[in-house]
Amino acid sequence: MSFDPYAVPSPCYVAEETKLRANCALLKRVAEESGAEIILALKGFAMWGVFPIVREYLPGVTASSVNEARLGAEEFGGEVHYYAPVILDHEIDEVVKLSHHLVFNSLSQLERHRAKALAAGVKIGVRVNPQCAVVKTDLYNPCVRFSRLGITAAELDETRLDGITGLHFHALCENSADELEEALAAVEAKFGPLIHTMEWVNFGGGHHITRDGYDTAKLVRLVKAFREKYGVKVILEPGEAIALNAGVLVASVVDLIHNEIDIAMLDTSAAAHMPDVLEMPYRPEIAGGERPGMKAHTYRLGGMTCLAGDYIGDYSFDAPLKIGDRLLFGDALHYSMVKNNTFNGVPLPSIGIWNADGAFTLLKSFGYEDYKGRLS
Ligand SMILES: Cc1ncc(COP(=O)(O)O)c(C=O)c1O
Repeated sequence: MSFDPYAVPSPCYVAEETKLRANCALLKRVAEESGAEIILALKGFAMWGVFPIVREYLPGVTASSVNEARLGAEEFGGEVHYYAPVILDHEIDEVVKLSHHLVFNSLSQLERHRAKALAAGVKIGVRVNPQCAVVKTDLYNPCVRFSRLGITAAELDETRLDGITGLHFHALCENSADELEEALAAVEAKFGPLIHTMEWVNFGGGHHITRDGYDTAKLVRLVKAFREKYGVKVILEPGEAIALNAGVLVASVVDLIHNEIDIAMLDTSAAAHMPDVLEMPYRPEIAGGERPGMKAHTYRLGGMTCLAGDYIGDYSFDAPLKIGDRLLFGDALHYSMVKNNTFNGVPLPSIGIWNADGAFTLLKSFGYEDYKGRLS
């Protein structure tokens, strides 16, 4: 059944069950063929209303805070892996209670928290930084010069690694298997002898496995070869790949104004509801929308906060926009709900799912208390 954007509240993040299942099924197949364990990175996608679906395919989550670990334990089940750039002293007891795998960002963090983790029976490891600049945008490049993420080979004093059974690296962002190959070459060149002494290696996230054209056969080959060479378990922890193209943000045109150009004012906001549009920056696809000038009617799509730069971009349409029209922003599930905010007091979009049988289920709507509750 086709999706009816007028049958949902506006604005609303809508997951499409069929597409979410297709992503998860592909990830499960890759896990089975490669022998890797693939878990969901909650920092990218934490829409817990669909965890029962994702859990049918994936065995666990990775968390980067106590809140995410707790959400994983309570709502996802299965394994909870944990990595955060720092773990605070008052967090560690809860972290070790919730986690099965725990990765430290530095030798000093390892030394500070090791005893509690081992006493709790948690598998521990450290994050290494292979210093390979595969990602070209600094904001998203964990291997950028002077990076604080992971231990470089020069700083990795192997006499201080007591008790660890695994290594973690995260060097990719929306990358292909070719770029993973490049990162793995750097990891092996810098840490090869150490890997031979490990039980597991976590290849981090940033694997764009569910993107059209991603070479899954190559990923399977790379993982298998690595597992065989080092005798280790391999873990992948993508976030984006789980939700990629599996849902939309439905928004409405609420006003039409003109200032040299036509501007459509929406009941959503780049700054509040899709912050990556401004941060990455990236341009979301819109159903029926094209680059400016390609179709007859071009509009700048403006957000509802008073930040001057709160607009989503310029798009053209076949017909003039009208107040009340619904717009569907594509690929709106990952790094949206987990990053949105109530700047200007604008309400958060509702959250729902378009079920495989064609019915829409509203999972959550937000109101004044959600805004007020974050302040005091
Ligand atoms: C350590 C770590 N693991 C996993 C991920 C998930 O990455 P992605 O959503 O790009 O797959 C990230 C993203 O920043 C990360 O920092």
